[in-house]
Amino acid sequence: MSQAITVQPGQVIERILTLELVRVTERAAVASARLRGRGNEKAADQAAVDAMRRELNKLPIDGTVVIGEGERDEAPMLFIGERVGNRNGVKVDIAVDPLEGTTLCAKDMPGSIAVMAMAESGTLLAAPDVYMQKIAIGPGYPQGVVDLDASPEENLHNLAKAKGVKVTELTALVLDRPRHTDLIAAIRKTGAGVRLISDGDVAGVIFTTNPASTGIDIYLGIGAAPEGVLAAGALRCIGGQMQGRLILDTEEKRSRALQMGVKDPNRKYDMKDLASGDVVVAATGVTDSALTKGVKFGKDVIETDTVVYRSATGTVRRIYGEHRELSKFHLD
Ligand code: FBP
Repeated sequence: MSQAITVQPGQVIERILTLELVRVTERAAVASARLRGRGNEKAADQAAVDAMRRELNKLPIDGTVVIGEGERDEAPMLFIGERVGNRNGVKVDIAVDPLEGTTLCAKDMPGSIAVMAMAESGTLLAAPDVYMQKIAIGPGYPQGVVDLDASPEENLHNLAKAKGVKVTELTALVLDRPRHTDLIAAIRKTGAGVRLISDGDVAGVIFTTNPASTGIDIYLGIGAAPEGVLAAGALRCIGGQMQGRLILDTEEKRSRALQMGVKDPNRKYDMKDLASGDVVVAATGVTDSALTKGVKFGKDVIETDTVVYRSATGTVRRIYGEHRELSKFHLD
C-alpha cells in the first residue's frame, strides 16, 4: 500500500513515482538487452513488453495506456486502453515504447532504449499508430523561432540567427528514409549539416535539448506519432519547442484517429497539445547511445543507465543501477 504524500498544486504525480518509473524501464531494457544482436526484432520487443507490463502492474497507480503496442485487436499486451497498475493510486495516462529501436536492438547497434511516460489523466495525446511530421529544438530560443509550416531553409536561417551563429554551424537530425530525400537536400543547400539516424527518433528529439554535447540543433522530418508524444513529454520537462502533425492520408486512418478523439486531421499540435499536464518520462539504454549507456551484463551484476525527466520541477536525473538479485531479473 502506498503512503499518501502531499502533492504541490499543478502536480498530480507523486514524486516518488519518478523512481518507480525507472524500475519499469530498467526491467524492460534488461529483458530486451538479453536478445541484443540476435536478429529477432519481435522476440526482443516481446521481452521488453512482458517485463514492462509486469513491472507497471506493481505500481500504486490507476493507469490507462494511451500510447501502447497497438489497438486491442492487434496487441495482446499494453494495448491502447489497457488498465495498468494495482489501481490503488492516482489516475494516470501511460505512454510506452518498451523497445524503441527494435531493429537497432536486433542488430546490436547504438540507439535503442526502453522508454515510457506517466502523465496526469487525460493530458497525453492519444495518437494512433500513424506517421507524424515533427520539428523540435531545445530550450533558450524565442517562442515560434521555427515552425512546422515554414520551409527548412527558413527554419534553419531563423534558428541560426536566434543562436547567433552561421547557418553552416547548425546540424539537423533526420531519420534516414527515402521520404526525406528532398528535406535532406534542402537542409544541405543552406550549408547546414545533416546527421542521419537509421531509427530512434524519441532520443533524436531529446538530443536537440543539449546541442553542446550531442551536436544536434534541430530535429526535422517524419517519424512515428506515438514516439512524437513520448518525445514531447520529455521536452515538456527539459524545455524546448516541438510541433507535430499527424499524417492521416487515408480515410481509414482519419476514421481511426477520429475514434481516438482527433477531430481535425490537419491540426498542428505544439508540445503542450501533445503532453499538456504533469508528466514524468524515463528511458533506459538497451544499447549504447548519446542519451544513455546500454545494459551491461557482468558475472554477478547487471548495470543499467537511465535518464528520468519530471515536468513539475524540470529535474533530470541520471540513474546508474547495479542489479544483484539476478534471479529476479530472470524470473519475475
Ligand atoms: P520501432 O522501435 O517501432 O521499430 O521504431 C523505430 C523508429 O525508428 C522510431 O524511432 C521512428 O519514429 C519510426 O521508427 C519511424 O518509422 P519508419 O521506420 O516506418 O520510418
